[in-house]
Amino acid sequence: MSVIDDIKARLDIVEVVSSYATLQKSGRGFKAVCPFHTEKTPSFVVTPERQSWRCFGACATGGDVFSFVMQAEKLEFRDALQQLAQKTGVELQQRNVEQEDALHRVNRTTANFYQQVLASDAGQAGRAYLERRGVSPQAIERFMLGLSPNSRTELKSYLQTHDMDVEVAIAAGVIGRSDDDGSTWDFFRNRLMFPIFDRQGNVAGFGARALDDSMPKYINTARTPVFDKRATLYALNFAVDSIRQDRTAVIVEGYMDAIAAHEHGYTNVIASMGTALTEQQVSMLRSSADSFVLALDPDVAGQEATLRSLESSWHVIQSGAAQQRQRSHSALAQVRSVDLKVAALPAGQDPDALIREDPAKWERTIEEASPLLDFIIPAAAGRFDLTAEGARAQVVDLVWPLILSLDELDQDHYIQVLADAVGVTHAALTASAGRRRIATRDRRRTPSEPVSEISESALDPQRSDVLEDTALALMISRPDLRLKAAKFGAAYLRKTENREVFTNWMDCAKIEDLWDSLDETLHPHLTHLTNFKLPSADPRRDESGLDQMLKRLEHRYWLEQQETLVATEDPDQPPSKELEHQVVDVNTRIRASEPMRTGHK
Ligand code: UTP
Ligand code: MN
Repeated sequence: MSVIDDIKARLDIVEVVSSYATLQKSGRGFKAVCPFHTEKTPSFVVTPERQSWRCFGACATGGDVFSFVMQAEKLEFRDALQQLAQKTGVELQQRNVEQEDALHRVNRTTANFYQQVLASDAGQAGRAYLERRGVSPQAIERFMLGLSPNSRTELKSYLQTHDMDVEVAIAAGVIGRSDDDGSTWDFFRNRLMFPIFDRQGNVAGFGARALDDSMPKYINTARTPVFDKRATLYALNFAVDSIRQDRTAVIVEGYMDAIAAHEHGYTNVIASMGTALTEQQVSMLRSSADSFVLALDPDVAGQEATLRSLESSWHVIQSGAAQQRQRSHSALAQVRSVDLKVAALPAGQDPDALIREDPAKWERTIEEASPLLDFIIPAAAGRFDLTAEGARAQVVDLVWPLILSLDELDQDHYIQVLADAVGVTHAALTASAGRRRIATRDRRRTPSEPVSEISESALDPQRSDVLEDTALALMISRPDLRLKAAKFGAAYLRKTENREVFTNWMDCAKIEDLWDSLDETLHPHLTHLTNFKLPSADPRRDESGLDQMLKRLEHRYWLEQQETLVATEDPDQPPSKELEHQVVDVNTRIRASEPMRTGHK
């Protein structure tokens, strides 16, 4: 459940409104003198069934509990959210923007320092190393590569002369501090430094490579408020436009691989930084790409850890697709096919080596990537001596959850592939795997794995208002239709979340700007909206489709008003003149907003 839904679930609009207005039971709802304008006869109505409110008088507005508090307290969305979160005891993940800024500043200054060291006399060995690896001066510049000196104090002095707070540097992980005596030291020493950027291009952390074969090869920044390796994709800031353009992301493992790719113009490449792919990383990409190609070293591909993490990322991708499938009976939502492919690299070659040696072969390797299961099944089978006791069951356990997440037709195909790979019949496999199915499923998500907010809220059909969501999804997918949508009023939307998305979108030219302008709490909702696949390829159909939907929303809005008027009419009282006027007025509008009947057969 999203934070917003959680808060709404804990609030009763009647109770909230009661502290601003004296509510009188009236029919199935409540009436009050409008708290927002001066009036004698009550024209303010609360409908508990819909958890909505409306002023039929001079304000002529209404909405949900969020919009009520925003209006009553004259608050922006974020502040209303904060107030209601506090009231309901729902914890908001407090972002401390100032702290984040401070960490980013220290990190950037640190990166600049490492850059200067690399360029100085002391950087000779580092420069030679990069040259040997074939990294161009332009790439060194662009990726802000640097060198940490072999010193325990130089960075600290540099930061101090640049007015950086040592405490912040410690929080950023670039300065270490002893718990025993409080002494401090430069954390990274004598290593090639890779600043790790977040999506916006802030320096979030560092990867640090040894200049020789000493171990560990890489040291990375530990978790900080601005850096979590599992939720970061290296080079995403450079790749995001390109990924959005062709809806495809190519995922490699290493910093050096990503840099080589970008140097050669493969700009949709990002690095998972060692782990095969986490759920968070996949979630970050879901709204930008439909197609993922993992460039995997065949040596590690069959390993249990890789398979496990592929399983979880696959699960994230599939849960999105399944949810779309569930909804696909509705007007415009359709299955958005997402695919995950694996490109098997030539043995012993990582993308870095392959790209620098033979770019054409790299391109072929990516183009010829196979669907995940075509790759996983033989890789998993190859890992075990299938004649050994229990080995077949182990392979089946590994692969079965992946097969289950497919739709039926594909399931059948891959059950056969798996049966062939382990040398049993289709029937025997289905029977035995079916028995283990429950156990396998339970293990799939251990309690320690946080369930991502996106899949959670998106999977709950109760929470979505399909008409609103579809209309917004279409608007967002077609920036050129913004003018058309501008004539539409946010008031026609029921949910404050959607109103926020709508009004912000009217001020944004690009979806990226919308991400930035929207409150973070609404990001899962935006992900949900951008995940809609809208079927029409004909731009005019989209346009008339949007027209239709906006009409329907407007119509629904007036119908609801009528309903509210009727529902909150006091059955024991003769209808007042005012009520009659309102009913007539609303009826006129209902007719005017009647969606045009199109020539559908
Ligand atoms: P690789 O060993 O493939 O590193 O590990 P690489 O980037 O290709 O480096 P070169 O080519 O050997 O110089 C892949 C990624 O795994 C993470 C790093 O993010 C690395 O880029 N890793 C690897 C670590 O975090 N720590 C390690 O000790 C090794
Ligand atoms: Mn490498």
